[in-house]
Amino acid sequence: MNVGSTKEKNPEKRISITPDTSKNLKDLGLKVFLEKDYGKDLGYSDEEYKNKGTEFLNSSDEVYSKSDLICKVNLPAQEEINLLKQNTNLIVSNYNPEKEKNLIKKDLNVFALNLLPRITRAQSMDVLSSQANLAGYRAVIESIYEYEKAVPMMMTAAGTVPAARVLVVGAGVAGLQAIATAKRLGAIVSATDVRLTAKEQVESLGGKFLTVEGSENLETKGGYAKEAGEDFKKKQSEMLENAASKSDIIICTALIPGKKAPRIINESMIKKMKSGSIIFDLAVAQGGNAAYSEVDKVVNKDGIKIIGIGNVMNKLPLTASNLYAKNIFSFVRNLYSREKKQFVLNMEDEIIKNTLIKGDN
Ligand code: NAI
Repeated sequence: MNVGSTKEKNPEKRISITPDTSKNLKDLGLKVFLEKDYGKDLGYSDEEYKNKGTEFLNSSDEVYSKSDLICKVNLPAQEEINLLKQNTNLIVSNYNPEKEKNLIKKDLNVFALNLLPRITRAQSMDVLSSQANLAGYRAVIESIYEYEKAVPMMMTAAGTVPAARVLVVGAGVAGLQAIATAKRLGAIVSATDVRLTAKEQVESLGGKFLTVEGSENLETKGGYAKEAGEDFKKKQSEMLENAASKSDIIICTALIPGKKAPRIINESMIKKMKSGSIIFDLAVAQGGNAAYSEVDKVVNKDGIKIIGIGNVMNKLPLTASNLYAKNIFSFVRNLYSREKKQFVLNMEDEIIKNTLIKGDN
């Protein structure tokens, strides 16, 4: 069986197969096909791949037409999908049914890794976690780059520099890494979440947990957040208005799966923030947690900079690709039967069942 991958369309900088994972795929018994200069922009030469047993084909079209499994970050364009053989398997990081449903043909097996069940066996494939962890880290780095003051407390002969105060809204995968990163840089960190289990995790990283007084635990059985009611939102706003006014940097990461991002940092809170403060809105592509945030813009509202980067992964594509490629390899290892020497769609396997999308065209 042949596994192939082609370069992503601009602006996506990530790749799906690294030299190391191409060797892993080969060791499974698969042939790996790539197009010329596949990993060049990330510093992986064709030579490096060839040394691991990868074959380079003349064009991306050839890779599409000769592969039984295609690994991609984003769903390929219609023209590329049309080149795929019947029953080709296609793995992508993310699938958006509203925008992409009509691209998927009936005779394709598309696996969307954002639909993986969050079970122990799927942890090594969990692309949402591997990428959100990096996003939380990078959100802090990008914020500090825009922040015109120092972060750690410094006592110098010329005077004392106070530590910056960082507030993290949403303490999931991205939020917890944002807390850890801000702590490592010397900031005083607080965080809030609708799930009360997050309190212990925030505290274990040295952050202060801000609880919405009198609120119930808004957590589903699966460990995700439930949508907050009006009463909760009002109490949370009151609590955050005070916290925001004292914060130098706010990192927003709040998300409810399958829903538009909740609006948490409103205009009135931003008005009360100190000039020179920063808001980084990681949820900008889902509608944003903060007022004024716009995709791929730094909006300056009366001296407060509101940063929205649609794809933070493009700021550290090499690390993101190394982890993504490992997620893909783990998924392929589960899909491929060495005994039968083919990909097996075992619909009793939760991992396969949950991620497989079939088109109606
Ligand atoms: P997650 O589901 O692990 O965490 C989200 C957290 O927000 C959860 O802990 C949830 O309980 C909390 N939350 C939900 N509603 C809340 C509310 N009203 N108030 C306070 N907390 C609330 O999600 P993850 O993986 O950490 O991702 C966070 C965000 O970052 C998402 O919007 C995701 O799409 C985005 N993201 C953006 C990237 C980019 O390149 N821009 C890359 C990766 C993630």
